[in-house]
Amino acid sequence: MIVNKAIFPVAGLGTRFLPATKAQPKEMLPVVDKPLIQYAVEEAYAAGVREMIFVTGRHKRPIEDHFDMSYELEQLLEAQHKHDLLEVVRSVKPDDMECIYVRQAQALGLGHAVLCGQRLVGKEPFAVLLADDLMVGTKPVLAQMVEQFREWRASIIAVQEVPTEHTRRYGIVAGTEVNERLIDVQRIVEKPSPEAAPSRLGVAGRYILTPGVFHEIATQPRGVGGEIQLTDGIASLLRREKVFAYRYEGKRYDCGSKEGFLEANVELALAHPEIGDRFRQFLGGLKIGG
Ligand code: UTP
Repeated sequence: MIVNKAIFPVAGLGTRFLPATKAQPKEMLPVVDKPLIQYAVEEAYAAGVREMIFVTGRHKRPIEDHFDMSYELEQLLEAQHKHDLLEVVRSVKPDDMECIYVRQAQALGLGHAVLCGQRLVGKEPFAVLLADDLMVGTKPVLAQMVEQFREWRASIIAVQEVPTEHTRRYGIVAGTEVNERLIDVQRIVEKPSPEAAPSRLGVAGRYILTPGVFHEIATQPRGVGGEIQLTDGIASLLRREKVFAYRYEGKRYDCGSKEGFLEANVELALAHPEIGDRFRQFLGGLKIGG
């Protein structure tokens, strides 16, 4: 069983990142030299996904343009014999990758955004990637999840331990441990208070879902924050199907927040083959807190 399609919800308002997100999607903010959305697309591609479905809102143009062919730029780089840069530009969209765009007219919530991809997904299992969660793993996180999906043939949600005081920022799952990485989910709640949270396992922005979830989302009333929540759809799906939570191997940067975005930039710059060494020297020379 393969996962060939992925939904990238990119229609959120990105209010935590204003004013940067006033006229552009937050998924186009660059970490070092690549926009967030490209990291997520590359992760999906590495997991075998070839059909990328973007659920867009206002200011969608930069994302469409980014994954489109840039004819003039390619011509220019070719004429200047800048073959390395040409390769960088062309590799943004490999030939065997398809990009499809669907519009979410109103930002009614993540569940609603996923539902906008229903007709394009059809009756196949599919991935959902939230590009503002930048994941770095020796093995790409979605590829780890596809492996689990092949074994268990059920929905897989990426989770990590979160501090008790942060449960309000996440969907929180609870269930029985199948092994050290996998939990058979019995409950999932969106943004509970620390007192109401059934565990400290917070959902990160990676999911592999069975198509049954669409019907469950479509029949949900509005949830936390008046939004149609993906978490509530998954909670309903639990009554009919098994859902597993997977403790991924790797690191997550919450690039929807300013701190997480800056941390990602510093750590990825330090690891960058071209600028890493010089950047380390630069940081070493800073008088932090002085
Ligand atoms: P967030 O919860 O981070 O919301 O959405 P947001 O609006 O993007 O950002 P803030 O909280 O106002 O700063 C999680 C993901 O779901 C998408 C977002 O683009 C983001 O990738 N999303 C959210 C949609 O596509 N549509 C929605 O209606 C809501």
